[in-house]
Amino acid sequence: REWPDGRPIRQRLLVVANRLPVSAVRRGEDSWSLEISAGGLVSALLGVKEFEARWIGWAGVNVPDEVGQKALTKALAEKRCIPVFLDEEIVHQYYNGYCNNILWPLFHYLGLPQEDRLATTRSFQSQFAAYKKANQMFADVVNKHYEEGDVVWCHDYHLMFLPKCLKEYNSEMKVGWFLHTPFPSSEIHRTLPSRSELLRAVLAADLVGFHTYDYARHFVSACTRILGLEGTPEGVEDQGRLTRVAAFPIGIDSERFIRALEVPEVQEHIKELKERFSGRKVMLGVDRLDMIKGIPQKILAFEKFLEENPDWRDKVVLLQIAVPTRTDVPEYQKLTSQVHEIVGRINGRFGTLTAVPIHHLDRSLDFQALCALYAVTDIALVTSLRDGMNLVSYEFVACQDSKKGVLILSEFAGAAQSLGAGAILVNPWNITEVAAAIGQALNMLAEERKKRHRHNFEHVTTHTAQQWAEFFVSELNDTVIEAQQRIRK
Ligand code: G6P
Repeated sequence: REWPDGRPIRQRLLVVANRLPVSAVRRGEDSWSLEISAGGLVSALLGVKEFEARWIGWAGVNVPDEVGQKALTKALAEKRCIPVFLDEEIVHQYYNGYCNNILWPLFHYLGLPQEDRLATTRSFQSQFAAYKKANQMFADVVNKHYEEGDVVWCHDYHLMFLPKCLKEYNSEMKVGWFLHTPFPSSEIHRTLPSRSELLRAVLAADLVGFHTYDYARHFVSACTRILGLEGTPEGVEDQGRLTRVAAFPIGIDSERFIRALEVPEVQEHIKELKERFSGRKVMLGVDRLDMIKGIPQKILAFEKFLEENPDWRDKVVLLQIAVPTRTDVPEYQKLTSQVHEIVGRINGRFGTLTAVPIHHLDRSLDFQALCALYAVTDIALVTSLRDGMNLVSYEFVACQDSKKGVLILSEFAGAAQSLGAGAILVNPWNITEVAAAIGQALNMLAEERKKRHRHNFEHVTTHTAQQWAEFFVSELNDTVIEAQQRIRK
């Protein structure tokens, strides 16, 4: 496709995700400010540039009135974002309930909530109904903005029903779906009451993508074992129709981080941090305050390290940035208190009148402050119990080209498959092993740190978010062309 003057028209991409890259904060009846949203999905999508992209999603607030909705729609349009308005009840049942209390823990191997296994099937059913309803609301907005030839790219566990809703509107729509979390073993997925309906809805897409080959394989076996369909090397086949399934490991916009380190304010910040922590090795954790991130286990491993290595007690500090998330879900509230309790206990135990071993922040940092922190860190601790990919590990590596610090990385994060050779891999459930890894990292010789860093840096700078998106979209275009050819034959 070209403009009349011969310039190619870039393909339009409708990116649909529950969370828009910006979240809205109301400042007045018709005035809004927009802030960058947290999380791996957003940090990757912000790195996707070379497309004519429109973002469709929820702005993270309830806007019951028409004046507010109009003003927000206008403010978002400047960022090429299109809002889906969800009322409080839907957010409660769909987002807090089905998405974050059921699918999220299940996909991260934490199981279904106990009560849903027994008595409260009614609440499960009403949450699932709300989930389907919300997905239909997203589909309505997509359909309204869709133009022939657009590629519609649906994201994550919130929108597993969306491919089906979209194809019901228009079977010619090119629809891809990508999961940002792990897809668990089929044995785990089997426990979900709505297991079959969800799988069938996803299979309506033309292309289904995952971060790793293992997640893709789990999805295909769920379809073969639960639905009795045929799995092929290309994907899943149902009565002659193929849904292509493949792995597309995500990345970040590494240049954005590398460039930020040159900015004078960031340089200044780096200088301040170096002075502030001089004489101490800096260990860093940056996570959403989520049970999958293994924050309590990480802090307990640090305690064990301090217990066993008295000489290090005043020479090392752990900075844990814990970004509040999903604060209306009770499990997340419990986790916050648990983490505070452990941090308080350890600081009481090993702190002095002038210094504490753990600095714990319950908030996010702005981009420049975060880059400065990554740059001065000696050891990053990414010890998720499960994690789709984990892009904090990528961001850390991107900011470490002068320091060449060590990455301690959970073997249960998708990133272990790409950064495994450069990182120290650990089982985050094994506190003794993580404590030993901290010792190994602190004592690692410069030559080895350099070698490990080079491996990771090379990967992070050559596997970017932009390439990930290009790879997915071109595969989606090819898949649709091949399917049309198959039908013609
Ligand atoms: C993960 C999910 C994303 C989500 C993000 C932040 O990265 O895969 O879909 O946006 O967490 O969570 P939230 O619930 O705040 O959107």
